[in-house]
Amino acid sequence: MKIVYWSGTGNTEKMANLISEGIVAAGKEATVVNVSNATSDIFNDEDVVILGCSAMGDEVLEEGEFEPFVEELSSKVSGKKVALFGSYGWGDGQWMRDWEERMISYGCQSAIDPLTVQNEPEDEEECKDFGKKIAAL
Ligand SMILES: Cc1cc2nc3c(=O)[nH]c(=O)nc-3n(C[C@H](O)[C@H](O)[C@H](O)COP(=O)(O)O)c2cc1C
Repeated sequence: MKIVYWSGTGNTEKMANLISEGIVAAGKEATVVNVSNATSDIFNDEDVVILGCSAMGDEVLEEGEFEPFVEELSSKVSGKKVALFGSYGWGDGQWMRDWEERMISYGCQSAIDPLTVQNEPEDEEECKDFGKKIAAL
């Protein structure tokens, strides 16, 4: 399974690594890829699209790299399951609700509730469990 993420200060990156640990603990392979090193074909052979990005701007995805990446996925992910995660600071999670809706508009199936964490992920088990659930999708 492939996990593509963007993270400014490492919080979402930490989530990505813990989710990966959970997937591996559940018996599947997992690769964590920084969006800088990902092409939009990365999920072509995958059943599940696993994406992480923190809340940036005013309740939006990071606009330099991650936003254009998600836009490029629009024509390539129809019919796939999607699992979204990310860290936020002071908001109420609006960026994630909008993002999930957007992925559904691309034809993705929202197979698991997105995982959001305020600031640094303190509850490591929560992230690992999310990974285990993804592995079972
Ligand atoms: C430029 C900038 C914009 C942000 N905008 C929001 C926001 O709209 N809503 C929110 O809840 N947090 C916002 N935050 C807080 C980050 O989402 C939070 O610090 C998060 O833990 C960062 O995760 P990361 O290290 O994975 O990037 C913003 C932070 C920065 C630096």
